[in-house]
Amino acid sequence: MFEIAIDRDQPAAEFYADLGASAAALVDGEPDAIANMANVAALIWQYVPDLNWAGFYRLIGEELVLGPFQGKTACIRIPMGAGVCGTAAATGVVQRIADVHAFPGHIACDADSRSELVVPVVKNGKVIAVLDLDSPLPDRFQPADADGMVRLIGAVTGNLG
Ligand code: SME
Repeated sequence: MFEIAIDRDQPAAEFYADLGASAAALVDGEPDAIANMANVAALIWQYVPDLNWAGFYRLIGEELVLGPFQGKTACIRIPMGAGVCGTAAATGVVQRIADVHAFPGHIACDADSRSELVVPVVKNGKVIAVLDLDSPLPDRFQPADADGMVRLIGAVTGNLG
């Protein structure tokens, strides 16, 4: 494994450029989606501050199924359209939720979660998974975080399924 050193204190655009490049390097040449999701979740968990959960749900049939993650144990199956993750999967649209308690149907896996960012993983025009990030801080995720995570996922999607 190569050495990863990312400066957490640099501006968001540069931080996410470094994080995305590291993620791309981690999955490079590795075809196993589960292994790659595991390393991407671990990378995000290590470098992105103020998270209480970071990981993937994979779309299997009509449900999202828990994939590799860091954080507390979580709900295993989420129907399409349910909660923040199911909404992201059903619409293909990034969900940036400042207050999860104000989101109708939010699924509370960890009672500590206050805000959430869910990025669909889209391959060949189809959602194959979602990246789910939870924070114990209200309004943790800013537009720069959403943009950065979208770019990161775009850099690794070819090796996630
Ligand atoms: N809160 C998510 C469920 C997944 S956990 O946060 C890990 C949701 O509403 O879809």
